[in-house]
Amino acid sequence: MRVIVVGATGTIGRAVVEALTPRHEIVAVSHRQAPIRVDLADRDSVARMYETIGQVDAVISAAGRARFAPLRELTDADFAMSLANKLMGQVNLVRLGHPSVRDGGSFTLTSGYLGRYPAPGSPAVSLVNAAVEGFVRAAALELPRGIRINAVSPRWIRETLQAPGRDPSPGLPVAVVAQAYVKSLEGNQTGAVLDP
Ligand SMILES: NC(=O)c1ccc[n+]([C@@H]2O[C@H](COP(=O)([O-])OP(=O)(O)OC[C@H]3O[C@@H](n4cnc5c(N)ncnc54)[C@H](OP(=O)(O)O)[C@@H]3O)[C@@H](O)[C@H]2O)c1
Repeated sequence: MRVIVVGATGTIGRAVVEALTPRHEIVAVSHRQAPIRVDLADRDSVARMYETIGQVDAVISAAGRARFAPLRELTDADFAMSLANKLMGQVNLVRLGHPSVRDGGSFTLTSGYLGRYPAPGSPAVSLVNAAVEGFVRAAALELPRGIRINAVSPRWIRETLQAPGRDPSPGLPVAVVAQAYVKSLEGNQTGAVLDP
């Protein structure tokens, strides 16, 4: 399959690309580093990305920023950024992208554990992650031509904890998380939230 991976240069995206590369043609996209660039927070940039790439079988998003900070510190700008980037960025990948996806293709978006299991500091992140999951369940009912859509909801990833020198033991290896994206792409589920 020809598969767009948005966030292909990130911790999760790199592992997804590695897991898929033997069997699929990957179109690597990221904000600043990949050969093809997109800014999820900019609707026109998402539209241009699809024009550049053309028809594909699937789109995987392993990207999207939301602000982690206590409620009392979250500003209007923090909420606006979180909604525009991780939420509407991924929603726009689907809204603007489904005409570029072939019959029976798929979308896989990324939410996150904090959507269902909040923690102090997570109001904006939990808001966005839960909204991504709600969108996926509803969009699955309406996408045309047999196109499927799922979300992967990662918990802490070992490599993410390791990078700043934190205790990696509560984290899941990123290669394990990547398998949830493979399952979404190669399986037949739709409207599902996959919890690696
Ligand atoms: N890592 C974790 O423990 C964890 C846990 C739960 C959920 N998640 C979620 O998983 C997703 C990916 O996380 P990650 O840890 O792999 O992130 P990461 O290592 O920071 O990588 C982020 C990726 O997204 C791209 N990106 C950044 N801003 C973008 C924008 N405005 N438009 C398009 N692409 C953009 C980056 O591109 P450049 O490299 O070109 O800048 C990079 O490829 C995030 O939504 C995160 O919330 C992660």
